[in-house]
Amino acid sequence: MGKGRLVVVSNRLPLGPNPSGGLVVALRDAFDEAGGIWVGTSGRQSETPKTRFDSHPGLPFDRLSFDLTKTEYEHYYLGYSNSVLWPLFHGRADLMETRSRFLADYRAVNARLAQMLAGVVHRDDVIWVQDYHLLPLAQALRATGVSNRIGFFLHIPFPALYDIMALPNSEEFIGWLAAYDLVGLQARRDVARLLEAFRSRPDVELMPDGSAKLGEQRVEARSFPIGIDAAAFAREAAKAFEVQPRVPLEPGERLIIGVDRLDYSKGIPNRFKAFRRLLEVHPELNGLVSLLQIAPPTREEVAAYQDIRSELEQLSGQINGAYADLTWTPIRYIHRAVPRARLAGLYRQAAVGLVTPLADGMNLVAKEYVAAQNTEDPGVLVLSDFAGAAEQMEDALLVNPFDLDQVAEALARALKMPKGERRARHEALMEGLLTQDITWWSRKYLAALRGVPRGLE
Ligand code: G6P
Repeated sequence: MGKGRLVVVSNRLPLGPNPSGGLVVALRDAFDEAGGIWVGTSGRQSETPKTRFDSHPGLPFDRLSFDLTKTEYEHYYLGYSNSVLWPLFHGRADLMETRSRFLADYRAVNARLAQMLAGVVHRDDVIWVQDYHLLPLAQALRATGVSNRIGFFLHIPFPALYDIMALPNSEEFIGWLAAYDLVGLQARRDVARLLEAFRSRPDVELMPDGSAKLGEQRVEARSFPIGIDAAAFAREAAKAFEVQPRVPLEPGERLIIGVDRLDYSKGIPNRFKAFRRLLEVHPELNGLVSLLQIAPPTREEVAAYQDIRSELEQLSGQINGAYADLTWTPIRYIHRAVPRARLAGLYRQAAVGLVTPLADGMNLVAKEYVAAQNTEDPGVLVLSDFAGAAEQMEDALLVNPFDLDQVAEALARALKMPKGERRARHEALMEGLLTQDITWWSRKYLAALRGVPRGLE
């Protein structure tokens, strides 16, 4: 082996005998090579929090899970993570609900986790922390004396300086980041925002090599755009398209598809309005195009998610009421999860993939939609400039999701696009997906983490 083991920490631990999420696929090779352990919450709540260790012959990593108490779940997960950091990082400081007890339990859960980790890490392990639930973990680990390389990857956008100023503990926040050796971000624009935040602080020194120093800590910030297993998804879509049920369409009717967790950052109301604009401005398309929106529920205990749900129900009802006829329903809106295999077939059936977040770290739906297409007769991706994916996917029709006329026109253009242009765009996009796929992402990140100078040299 030669290298230290890999210790991955994420809020959600991949559970079950055969976990298959994107991160599991991403890290399989790295665990196969170096061995290691994955640590995260168990998904259970108990008042005397338990930890469990399990080693499964089919999995290349061991697992260590821990329960949260009901209050920790409310304050750490629903509270500070999803009612403070999530809205703030997605440019919605107006939706923040700050409470000092949210922050106190956020710190406390991270400190407890650090104690637990300190007992299991070996001297030459590398530790890779995932996402915004665990920002203070490196600082807490350092406080227990852990001196290993510790990396962080932020899956969501990094906030602008003005938004960081809205955080009640913004000074502490910068200190959390500076305790890592490497902070990985999705897009170049996120790196620029992080550097801007560092630059705004008199106690942070920006070094000529691009790293930053806060006191004795040195941190590097770089972008590592996350990918998908594009080859596997393409195969899955081709198979699903043959065997899974499709959306029944009238002759000549074409499908636009949107798939998102029902989150206010995803711009689904704008999408519905842009679709309505398309029907208004292009009456020739009425009856010939419909929008399938799949939006599974998420974080329903948080008020902002209940609000977006009612907004969408109202909007889809209004649009259907105004435009539907006996044989055509303009919007099919499904507020339930759809199995992955079925989704892959639906992406392939759709002539347009419509991805319009107002803020998004990467957006893997955009990538899955492209990977799912039939290369002979592919559909067109209409993609928001505000998704991290836009930096890599320049051959999509890039749109400003706030500009409804522009989105409506991009939809019309996508629906009328000649096959030659569709194929050329798809080929270029697919090439990018295959080169910078999910394994590329984890390899590149881990090579960088293992390579950062450690300590004060
Ligand atoms: C985003 C975050 C992930 C999170 C996922 C689902 O993709 O970056 O960290 O796991 O949403 O959200 P949930 O709150 O259900 O874990």
